Amino acid sequence: MSQSISLNHVDTKAEKYEALLPQLQALVHGENDLTANLGNIMAALKYELGFFWVGVYLIKGDQLVLGPFQGPLACTRIAYGKGVCGKAWQQAQTIVVEDVEKFPGHIACSTLSKSEIVIPIMNGHNVVGVLDADSDKLSFFDDDDAHGLERICSLISGLIIK
Ligand code: SME
Repeated sequence: MSQSISLNHVDTKAEKYEALLPQLQALVHGENDLTANLGNIMAALKYELGFFWVGVYLIKGDQLVLGPFQGPLACTRIAYGKGVCGKAWQQAQTIVVEDVEKFPGHIACSTLSKSEIVIPIMNGHNVVGVLDADSDKLSFFDDDDAHGLERICSLISGLIIK
């Protein structure tokens, strides 16, 4: 079955997220394999929103472990409180980084990455993973991304917690 996402009819970033969410829900509908669904969601995010890198890290034991992603190779394990991802896990809050070189402890998987957003994937009050997106442009992410990606993380949470 061929699947596609269309955001041609929208202009603003907020409208893109609004249009994307139901299409992502449709994309995963009827498929219960987590890896397949996360892989397709990451591809949709990277190519529809122009990210340099996007992927999930899932908590396994006391670390975040790399899951499905789109983009260049990335580090596979991140400890609690380390890097932007580990901090978002620790704080259970979205972190927007306008310039990764100014974020103390930032973990550089690619020197081309300039700005970043990390959103915790929640199960109630517990963090079960994070969604990480990188851009090769400074200050790429804003409140519209935070809001839109938090809604997408709720969708992802529903796929993980079954
Ligand atoms: N920059 C992240 C590490 C993951 S990569 O960007 C894919 C961090 O500081 O946690």
